[in-house]
Amino acid sequence: MTAMGGGRPLLFAPWPVLLVMCLALTAVAQECVPGPVALPIINATLSTGKHRRGVAMKVGDPEQAFAFLPNWETNNTFLYGPACDALNLVKSNDACVSLRGGIYEPDKSRSKGTPAFSYRPPPERWSSNTYDMFTDNLDLGKNMSIKGFPMADPKDYRNWDLQGYDAQNIIGMGPGSTLVEASRKDGHIASDAFGFYWGLDGAGDEDQTGGSFVLGGYDEAKTSGDGRTQPLSDTQGCASRMTVSIQDIVLNFANGTEFSIFPKASGSTHLSACILPERPTVMSMPRTPYFQNLLDAIGNEEWGRSLGVDYENVILNPKMPIFTGNLTFRLDNGLGIEIPNRQLIVPERYINDTGDLAVNSSRPVLRINSLPDTAGIALPILGRYFFTSAYLMSNRDADQFTLWQANATTVENLIPVAERNEVSVATQSCATNGGGASNATTGFSLSRGQMAFVGICAVGL
Ligand SMILES: *[C@@H]1O[C@H](CO)[C@@H](O)[C@H](O)[C@H]1NC(C)=O
Ligand SMILES: *[C@@H]1O[C@H](CO)[C@@H](O)[C@H](O)[C@H]1NC(C)=O
Ligand SMILES: *[C@@H]1O[C@H](CO)[C@@H](O)[C@H](O)[C@H]1NC(C)=O
Ligand SMILES: *[C@@H]1O[C@H](CO)[C@@H](O)[C@H](O)[C@H]1NC(C)=O
Ligand SMILES: *[C@@H]1O[C@H](CO)[C@@H](O)[C@H](O)[C@H]1NC(C)=O
Ligand SMILES: *[C@@H]1O[C@H](CO)[C@@H](O)[C@H](O)[C@H]1NC(C)=O
Ligand SMILES: *[C@@H]1O[C@H](CO)[C@@H](O)[C@H](O)[C@H]1NC(C)=O
Ligand SMILES: *[C@@H]1O[C@H](CO)[C@@H](O)[C@H](O)[C@H]1NC(C)=O
Ligand SMILES: *[C@@H]1O[C@H](CO)[C@@H](O)[C@H](O)[C@H]1NC(C)=O
Repeated sequence: MTAMGGGRPLLFAPWPVLLVMCLALTAVAQECVPGPVALPIINATLSTGKHRRGVAMKVGDPEQAFAFLPNWETNNTFLYGPACDALNLVKSNDACVSLRGGIYEPDKSRSKGTPAFSYRPPPERWSSNTYDMFTDNLDLGKNMSIKGFPMADPKDYRNWDLQGYDAQNIIGMGPGSTLVEASRKDGHIASDAFGFYWGLDGAGDEDQTGGSFVLGGYDEAKTSGDGRTQPLSDTQGCASRMTVSIQDIVLNFANGTEFSIFPKASGSTHLSACILPERPTVMSMPRTPYFQNLLDAIGNEEWGRSLGVDYENVILNPKMPIFTGNLTFRLDNGLGIEIPNRQLIVPERYINDTGDLAVNSSRPVLRINSLPDTAGIALPILGRYFFTSAYLMSNRDADQFTLWQANATTVENLIPVAERNEVSVATQSCATNGGGASNATTGFSLSRGQMAFVGICAVGL
């Protein structure tokens, strides 16, 4: 479903009846839609003085800083510490601290506690014997915090099978998300909605911007053009319930030639993929025929796999031609997402022994994780580097998610979203708990509001 064009006046909308119903919903929403809560995706500074990119949040009193990654296959918020076990992914302790996005030191926090005896955390895919629950204060920035937030401390994670894919502290964003539940209970947000933009994350400083993770809404400034809204679906093997159908994937060569890596012969060749923003890749892609077609077209080969930050992505042979063009995804919903070369191919990045991010330019990483043919029915995945060029908003209350082309700007325009995906055009604060909209919505123009609203309501009815 396509949202309507930007500045189109309300009276010319093609669905007058729907509009009336939708506006009725807006009016309700305007009374008080708290939030959203915006958490920056940046290089967080850890206790070692080193950095790790992730969702920056602070825990405890005095505050300890961490780089978390949201994870849609997990419900609890997991914080490693005080010991650091890298499970052989890196060698030194400082490297381990960077790998995990910081290590919590309970003895240094005055506000650490234990959950009430009656507290039952939501279930996980791992045995509850492998982690311990504790509580501490979680700082959400802008004077918002959750006091006594229950978190899980990993104890025995050898068999969790996270490998280097999900090695950082985890914000559980599964259907039982404790962070969403607590933020809601404290009145910081109005819905089980989130917005996600990873930011530019290429090799040079000019290819780097921060990203943004929003709870209870999204950051309109980082979207571009019209969004496309789809229902969440219960596809097997897609924990986030966000599946998209890909119509084509095209290589854009520097000389202007476009080359589709989709099979030529057969008629219907749509490829379903699951959105898992935590994964360190643009896409995990079936080797046959897609990735093989790509390699043939760019005249290179799989030389190895990265064991660094872009875990398991393909390393190209540096002695063969390195592709200089872009990769464009054409989705069935009409959206085109172009991944520029400088986000698609980067020198290998890894955490070295001093815990710094180091680069090996002799190992060019193509941010595609090629799925071996033996992987069978594994669903392809669109990961976080897809969200260097795309913006995602999802709302479990409304059972819908929306994708936009991203705008890599540092400007912020936060929009609270309510349970039925209503966006608020009001600037009213629901104060008492600091979750008020403050100036967050003042930049939201009426026409954009109605646009988003029509798109969303038209799908919902
Ligand atoms: C997450 O919590 C929900 C709600 O309690 C539950 O249905 C789901 O099975 C849990 N996920 C996992 C992986 O255990
Ligand atoms: C945070 O709250 C304190 C106490 O209510 C207040 O003094 C301070 O100005 C607030 N800071 C911000 C940035 O809103
Ligand atoms: C994060 O740190 C890396 C390594 O120090 C640096 O190359 C990159 O530009 C930084 N990114 C941002 C957004 O500050
Ligand atoms: C991107 O954001 C900037 C800053 O808000 C704005 O000036 C620009 O028009 C936006 N570009 C697009 C394509 O939306
Ligand atoms: C690739 O994307 C970049 C950035 O958007 C653009 O400047 C360049 O022209 C594109 N190259 C091709 C071959 O399309
Ligand atoms: C553009 O480059 C590709 C890859 O090298 C090549 O296959 C194609 O023929 C070229 N197209 C033109 C018009 O030169
Ligand atoms: C790790 O990388 C940093 C930044 O590139 C560098 O300054 C430092 O010397 C490296 N440490 C080791 C042990 O190689
Ligand atoms: C960088 O990669 C090359 C090629 O794999 C390897 O020979 C070299 O040892 C690596 N350099 C470092 C510092 O790890
Ligand atoms: C809030 O908006 C008002 C009116 O647009 C403006 O004067 C004020 O500076 C803004 N405050 C902040 C903190 O951005």
